[in-house]
Amino acid sequence: MSKSISAALLGLGTVGYGVRRLLEENRGINIEIKKILVRQPEKHGDIDPGLLTTDLDGIISDPGIELVIEAMGAGAFGYAAIRRSLVSGKSVITADKEIVARHLPELSTLAEARDARFYFEAAAGGAVPVIRNLLAIRKYDRVESVAGIVNGTANYILTQMFRRDIDFASALAAAREAGFAEADPEDDVSGIDSARKIAILAALAYDVFVPSEHIYRYGIANITKEDIAFIKSIGRVVKLIAFARRRGETIEIGVEPTLVHGDGVFAGVEDEDNAIFIEGKASGNLGFSGKGAGRYPTAAAVLSDCLAYREGVKSFVFREDDGISFASPERGQYYLRVADPAAIPNFLISMRRGNHIITGEIDWRILARLADNVAFCGKIMNI
Ligand SMILES: NC(=O)c1ccc[n+]([C@@H]2O[C@H](COP(=O)([O-])OP(=O)(O)OC[C@H]3O[C@@H](n4cnc5c(N)ncnc54)[C@H](OP(=O)(O)O)[C@@H]3O)[C@@H](O)[C@H]2O)c1
Repeated sequence: MSKSISAALLGLGTVGYGVRRLLEENRGINIEIKKILVRQPEKHGDIDPGLLTTDLDGIISDPGIELVIEAMGAGAFGYAAIRRSLVSGKSVITADKEIVARHLPELSTLAEARDARFYFEAAAGGAVPVIRNLLAIRKYDRVESVAGIVNGTANYILTQMFRRDIDFASALAAAREAGFAEADPEDDVSGIDSARKIAILAALAYDVFVPSEHIYRYGIANITKEDIAFIKSIGRVVKLIAFARRRGETIEIGVEPTLVHGDGVFAGVEDEDNAIFIEGKASGNLGFSGKGAGRYPTAAAVLSDCLAYREGVKSFVFREDDGISFASPERGQYYLRVADPAAIPNFLISMRRGNHIITGEIDWRILARLADNVAFCGKIMNI
């Protein structure tokens, strides 16, 4: 058997617990958890007390620990823990998309400088192995677009609304009950979580770093039963889709509710599932789908990073491509629910039923001018 790798696990919640369990079940990976960092050790009565600690410094200064697996979701503290671990030459695996989306250039180059590794497969798509595959594909093909359903909570809500003809609040309550929505679902329904994930995927695909707060996004918080009924009536399904696609030397990036064909590939992605399509110039459209969150699906993605570390796989190092810039989507055909249909100029309308409007192909600047009148909008795409 290979030499055992000594690791520290930061966090023993949904993901951390799953990682510990899977490492126990997959002894072939041969990673031994020497310390587990938590806030309240007394909550974890089933764990050997000798393993638990609240002392991050003790982990950082322990030369016997070569790998740190971060699963806390602890904001600035988590970032500091990752940074300090890398500075001390330890390799890091994290599941925290917020940290990766914000600090990928710095953390990946820091890892390289310290001859360490920085992996984050669980940070976009949960169990869906999109990061490693995207990195592989870009080595032999030109990535034209990456687009997907990357937020399980939003997808669960939209699926429930569509399937059960219920309103947004009831669907959110169902998502909470099923364990797919946090007490505060703002990041999920506003699209910011999807923006973070597409920021990560765009960095990997195109060497462009887009701060997630600069990414154009429109969430699903204002969607109503009436929207869903109209969308159904035209044979469409609505999905929250994050995308990053080439337009010349620009990467068009955004997150939008998208009206997809009822028999298209995205329509069949239901409940908390995620699906990401990578379009390669030579490869065509390649799809990856599966569980985007949850204890074991997320822990499995972390385990794939453990295996990558065990096998000496180099981690991604971000290097900015100066020739590439990013932009919001410029044009599109939109579904709008408006307060005052009479205020929408006729030349913009390709179909109207009550206050539901389908526009022709319009520039986003026109859409922006209509904003005060628009209660909900979604892009119409032939996918
Ligand atoms: N849950 C998912 O499905 C999922 C999917 C993809 C990515 N992620 C990411 O995975 C990370 C962990 O999520 P989770 O759902 O597992 O969180 P969680 O269930 O809330 O668990 C967090 C764990 O971290 C510990 N912790 C938090 N802050 C700490 C601090 N300041 N010092 C020491 N320990 C601290 C907690 O300690 P105590 O036990 O003592 O409270 C707890 O054990 C997050 O970044 C999240 O975005 C989660």
